[in-house]
Amino acid sequence: MKTIDGKLLAANLRAEIAGGVSRLKAEKGVVPGLAVILVGDNPASVSYVTAKEKACREAGMLSREVRLGAETTEPELLDLVKALNEDPAIHGVLVQLPLPKHISEKAVIDAIAPEKDVDGFTPVNVGRMIIGDDCFLPCTPHGIIKLIEFAGMDIRGKHAVVIGRSNIVGKPVAALLSRRETNATVTLCHTGTRDLAHFTRDADIVVVAAGRPGTLTGDMLKPGAVVIDVGVNRIPDDSRPKGFRLVGDADFESCAAVAGAITPVPGGVGPMTITMLLWNTLQAARRAAG
Ligand code: GUN
Repeated sequence: MKTIDGKLLAANLRAEIAGGVSRLKAEKGVVPGLAVILVGDNPASVSYVTAKEKACREAGMLSREVRLGAETTEPELLDLVKALNEDPAIHGVLVQLPLPKHISEKAVIDAIAPEKDVDGFTPVNVGRMIIGDDCFLPCTPHGIIKLIEFAGMDIRGKHAVVIGRSNIVGKPVAALLSRRETNATVTLCHTGTRDLAHFTRDADIVVVAAGRPGTLTGDMLKPGAVVIDVGVNRIPDDSRPKGFRLVGDADFESCAAVAGAITPVPGGVGPMTITMLLWNTLQAARRAAG
């Protein structure tokens, strides 16, 4: 079994991205700018946006950090998104999800200009991805494809089982894996699936994005399968300084004993999500620079 080192792959790609940022500055005088909006203080979201902002600065990009109170209204947030859509120093606009209950995520995502939608969440970018047009690919699904390739697997013709049908991960990763370039046969499993293990035991690739620890165990895997664990779950742990530890959706020990390769949590998918965000922001800035 091989642990797939998402930090290493992310570091390699981020070095390339930083090179692209330097060239864009030198040749066109343009510094890629990313606005990261956080509403409220959900602890997981705070740590994600902090990591995104840091990575952005480390790549030589401009990071515009906007922190808003949980009481922010939907019209206030929509006005802010519209102002950033118009701001020439900003090439990417990211609104961290989830949003407080009184704000419609759909309304806010719909307000992001598709050419600044570096998360790839707007209906325009999702539609373009499905029909194979040039678009911003959603960051976590794109990072997952890179991780599977980095593990040394030729995806073409393989059976990939995706567990979870979220708009952020499950649905788009299933769409990307089944595109002609990747050419996997995809089974999308979810909470309505009757016998999950029946499907996973036949899988060459399992992407687990269910949001529940222990969703995937070693007895559910075919020997040699590649496992991509998207889960980030906080488990209380008094022996840790923060009082918790992170675990994925896969039971690492038992899966690692059967899998050919598996991503750890943390250090697998997370760093790649941020890397593909930087990649999209650089693309957005290049397009704006002409
Ligand atoms: N919440 C969880 N993952 C993501 C992500 O990739 N982007 C945004 N904006 N919110 C998220």
